[in-house]
Amino acid sequence: MNKSQFFDKSWCRFKYDETLMQWISRALPCARETVAAEKNAQWLRCGGTWFAGVNLLPNSTDGSVCGSSSMQGEACDFIEETLGLDGFDWDRAQVSVCYPGYPRPMPGESEAAFGYRRDRDAAHVDGFLAEGSKRRRHLREYHGFILGIPMVEFSPGASPFVVWEGSHEVIRKTFTGVFRGVPAEQWGEMDITGVYHQVRRRIFDRCKRVEIYARPGEAYLVHRLALHGVAPWHSTASATADGRMICYFRPATGDPEAWLVNP
Ligand SMILES: [Fe+2]
Repeated sequence: MNKSQFFDKSWCRFKYDETLMQWISRALPCARETVAAEKNAQWLRCGGTWFAGVNLLPNSTDGSVCGSSSMQGEACDFIEETLGLDGFDWDRAQVSVCYPGYPRPMPGESEAAFGYRRDRDAAHVDGFLAEGSKRRRHLREYHGFILGIPMVEFSPGASPFVVWEGSHEVIRKTFTGVFRGVPAEQWGEMDITGVYHQVRRRIFDRCKRVEIYARPGEAYLVHRLALHGVAPWHSTASATADGRMICYFRPATGDPEAWLVNP
């Protein structure tokens, strides 16, 4: 069932998994240390309402951290069986924490950029990085998937992860056309800013926006080509002092062609 959900909707959720909960029990103290560390203070953004924490969890390439076992469980089984991915190196997880009031404007953030964060969930497709002062978009990273692991309890409106269902196939189709006839090693050199903005707008019009909620021990997997983002903190949402803490893994598992073509 998860398989058809994943390929139709661009995401799926896994039920409570004791194996994952064991991992969390070891990883959580380390994630808390990461968030609190003075040296990581520069990761606090959006007026103190978002700790971005990219690649900060000190896990090994097997996903183990702070005495936990390697990353395993139902989500990993699904990744291996359905996406055909195993034996890859796990990246250091992002420790992403939102706090009440997310998002608040950042110094130097344009009105348009803040508006996009507030009204469009800062929606993006991973891998299309904005470069230079003109923020020209280039394909630079080729993740295999996005795995979200809620680390603590919080309410559903606590800045949930947002995905546009079915958007991965819109992205695949669009960029299959854009990159046709161009050797894959040159895709990153192409400035795809215009088509990227166009396809995002098309997805906003055509695909259903859903907010994903999961509790510790559950997890969700998002297709690497899906348009996704983070919703503002709902006024009635609640969380503990840990905030809405989620670890995200986004390992690089292949080359640009695999990124575009694989299931
Ligand atoms: Fe992302």
